[in-house]
Amino acid sequence: MPMAATEAASYGRPAITPELAATLVAQRYGLTGAVTELGSQQDRNFLLRPDTGPSGASVGALVFKVFHPATDAAVVHDQVAAMTALASAGIEAPAPVAAADGTLVQRVALDGADHFAVALRFVEGEQLVDERHLPTHLVTGLASLVARVSRALADVPATADRETQWDLRHAATVVSEFAPAVPEDRRGRLLAVTERAWARVQQVADDLPVQLIHGDITDDNVVARTVDARPRVVGVIDFGDVVGSWRIGEVAVTLASMLHHDLDDHGVLRAMTATLEQGLAADDGLPLTPAERSALWPLVQLRCAVLVASGWQQLAVDPHNTYATTRMAHEWRSFETAAGLDADAMAALLLPREDADASTTEAPAALLALRGVDGGSPTPLSFAPDGDDAPSRLLLRPDTEALVLHHALARHPLVVVPQREPRVTSARPGVRPDRQHTYPLAAESVSRGGHELVTLSDAIVLSAGPGTLHVRIGAHRLEVADVQPSPAYVPGALLTAGESLGRATPLDQVSTHADGSTTTLEHARHHLRLRLLPASAAIDLPWDCPADLAPGYGALVAGTDAALGLATSGTDHAVDAASEQARRNAFLPDNTERYYARPPVFVRGWRSHLLDADGRAHLDMVNNVAAIGHSHPRLQAAVTRALGRLNTNSRFLYRDLADLSERILETTRGADGTSPYDSVVLVNSGTEAVDLALRMATIATGRRQVVTHAEGYHGWSTAADAITTSAYDNPHALDSRPSWVTVTDVPNAFRGTHRGEGAGAAYAADLNGVLDGLVDAGTAPAAVIMESILGNSGGVVPAAGYSVAMQEAAHRVGALTIADEVQVGYARTGESFWAFQAEGVTPDVVVCAKAMGNGVPLGAVITRKEISDQLGREGTFFSTTGGSPVACAAGLAVLDVLADEALQANAKAVGDHLAGRVAELAERHESIAAVHGRGLYRGIELVTDRDSLTPDAALTAAVCEALLARGVIDQATSERQNVLKVKPPLTLTVEEADSYVDALDEVLSRKWF
Ligand SMILES: Cc1ncc(COP(=O)(O)O)c(C=O)c1O
Repeated sequence: MPMAATEAASYGRPAITPELAATLVAQRYGLTGAVTELGSQQDRNFLLRPDTGPSGASVGALVFKVFHPATDAAVVHDQVAAMTALASAGIEAPAPVAAADGTLVQRVALDGADHFAVALRFVEGEQLVDERHLPTHLVTGLASLVARVSRALADVPATADRETQWDLRHAATVVSEFAPAVPEDRRGRLLAVTERAWARVQQVADDLPVQLIHGDITDDNVVARTVDARPRVVGVIDFGDVVGSWRIGEVAVTLASMLHHDLDDHGVLRAMTATLEQGLAADDGLPLTPAERSALWPLVQLRCAVLVASGWQQLAVDPHNTYATTRMAHEWRSFETAAGLDADAMAALLLPREDADASTTEAPAALLALRGVDGGSPTPLSFAPDGDDAPSRLLLRPDTEALVLHHALARHPLVVVPQREPRVTSARPGVRPDRQHTYPLAAESVSRGGHELVTLSDAIVLSAGPGTLHVRIGAHRLEVADVQPSPAYVPGALLTAGESLGRATPLDQVSTHADGSTTTLEHARHHLRLRLLPASAAIDLPWDCPADLAPGYGALVAGTDAALGLATSGTDHAVDAASEQARRNAFLPDNTERYYARPPVFVRGWRSHLLDADGRAHLDMVNNVAAIGHSHPRLQAAVTRALGRLNTNSRFLYRDLADLSERILETTRGADGTSPYDSVVLVNSGTEAVDLALRMATIATGRRQVVTHAEGYHGWSTAADAITTSAYDNPHALDSRPSWVTVTDVPNAFRGTHRGEGAGAAYAADLNGVLDGLVDAGTAPAAVIMESILGNSGGVVPAAGYSVAMQEAAHRVGALTIADEVQVGYARTGESFWAFQAEGVTPDVVVCAKAMGNGVPLGAVITRKEISDQLGREGTFFSTTGGSPVACAAGLAVLDVLADEALQANAKAVGDHLAGRVAELAERHESIAAVHGRGLYRGIELVTDRDSLTPDAALTAAVCEALLARGVIDQATSERQNVLKVKPPLTLTVEEADSYVDALDEVLSRKWF
């Protein structure tokens, strides 16, 4: 020290104007064109867009670079060699262009001093640095670039003997040299982290492979372009930091530059290092060495520390440098992120090794014991998402943990929750999955009357403080929190097997939660947490972590449960989604619909949320079947009760069938209190209801033809599929309808044949034409069927006046109308119980399902008895489980809950609120073309531009994937797959609707997907 880079700053940049640069380029390279200056800290860079090349051919843009006069010839040589090597490896890099005299490096005299100059190919594209969110594929693309660069430079000799502040081999010196410029409140932490990281690197420094590295492959210096509609990292620029140094330093620099970005989760960094490992090892390359593995995260920490220290140093020299000031915020954010993650945990997470030595974490069984005051032993509890000790009704509240433990203590005096299982009780609705700390990094014990922790082996006290005790047991360190150790326990005190390590701390009867709310419990509790770590582990590990960090942190504390003698299934709880998908795919037909590229595995639902195998809550915006919310206790109780009493078929006499049918008819009453219907037939599904409705209509009218609307989905059975016209579900649908089906236009006034005002009448005129044609052909139709809101068109309300006109038209030719309310009925649209009621029509037949049983198979055909009785002309009717006692019990419970919880009114209030907020979003996001629907049956239509209304299916799919990483379950719908479904459980609250809209806002604000 001082380092070359800081030294150079004292000379000032080369004195050259754009005009002089243009003259030099013309003289030396024979090129003319527009010249503009680009930024550089020490050198001068000019962009030249040549008019034509020497031979008359057009050449691409060039950067004319004049080096700082203090630049060493060997440094220029190494940079030129690196750029040339990358270009010949097919990596887009600023390849040096030969001057007219055939040389790559020119000498230019300016102000009497000699300067080196080069002309480089300009790499077209955009930087990543300013975009907060980076999609995973872009980050792994960056990692694969780093691997390619490393390999391309592996055999290029480093000729310069260079010392720069950016070479991580000097990181500790740089930080300490610049530390005085760092504000005092940050300096101590910066130096402490640096010291610890440096010590770790030093343990392996001699074994770290050295080669020529670019040294600055960051979000600033890589270039991305859109290729095949996706942003891709294509190349790298700025070779000013090329140096012979640790190969792993190249990786650390890149990784560090990702930390101020918003990544989907830490799994992205894991994907990054996996790509790197593969890239480095491919084709007999040099795989990461054990030394490199253990140095990676400390080097990331050091890189961040260097950036922070040199940023403050720059501000000290140049206090008005606004660029440096803004950079400091993200440099500090990166530093805090890097420093906050333990190096061992990150090594286990980022670079897991199959041959990893488990002996450091595995602990001998029965090393410790928990003992109640009465001498009782603890009962293990499982808060795992698929465990039974945390009832759903207590989940997703701020006081969940306190309540669940409290309830457990009502049954057992002393309980212990193991460390290795994710805790569904820690799920946090509305919080991104990667910030829900569902993985405990300690076992927890709670008792009613008090308990203590006993060592079953000799131990030495390492430290004891208020509520904490650290003890050395064999090769491990035991950390106990919320403990009252004996005052005699001072560092060095020896404990013998059988001695108490301390008593659990009594907790307040009032427990205060993170959101400030409180719960008062009946009785006080005593609680204590403990974990066993390798003796070498850091001493400030967190007490819990999110699932994406669990493979790292969890590996460190793996021995805790065994030490307590607890038999837990451990990581078995974390289901591997990919192998689960493969298991399912093995026997399902290929055309079976699936959600998501990498679907989460869900193990629970509660109200408007789904909980995955890692215990994390996701807001469910698509499960319209779970109308009264997931896992409703009243539904569970009703079905359980029925199952325990009687479940048989509807040829037997039992009361529930009539009870449910009467209750369904009640929902169809008009303002005068009467219902237009007097017949209900209970079946198992929407498909079955549609199929039966078609049979009723054809038998009752004695006709065969059915008129259906374009873009509709009505089910999968032969008849329901015949009237299904969705080109999304079946691209050949319109060409392959059987002769008894006639398709009429879908009355979509937003993007259909007729639009805007008057569209309803125009569609009605078309329908009348279709019907007249059928009558003229001697095939007058039996029925006209339509969804009361056009679900498969994206939740579009039919063009104004169409539903009424359709009813009149059908009746004019003697056809019945069938309203498909499988999706939209049952309180969802808010204004009315049935969607047709808001349309001012009275269909002859109504079919419904989905919400009716809230997931228990149940559907119905509602009509007039004069119609349903006609079925008898073609035999008897019977559906084995349709309307069974269990199905009816479910149906009745659903109706009770809808009424008692006023869910129809909620659908209206929350649905209107949500639609209003999305309309506000549309003012900022051009891609939102419309919010369709009513109540909590909505569709948010996304387009590439509003004039052409070109559907943006790619964006819609990407938004759904992005929302998943934000903890929101949403899916694309419509014929064009460009509509976001909004059909959540009707329990959705205003806060939940807001969190959906906020997540959507954030995702739509992204530049790259
Ligand atoms: C409008 C409509 N009708 C009928 C059906 C078929 O219902 P199910 O899947 O219960 O057979 C569906 C299913 O999505 C539907 O959306």
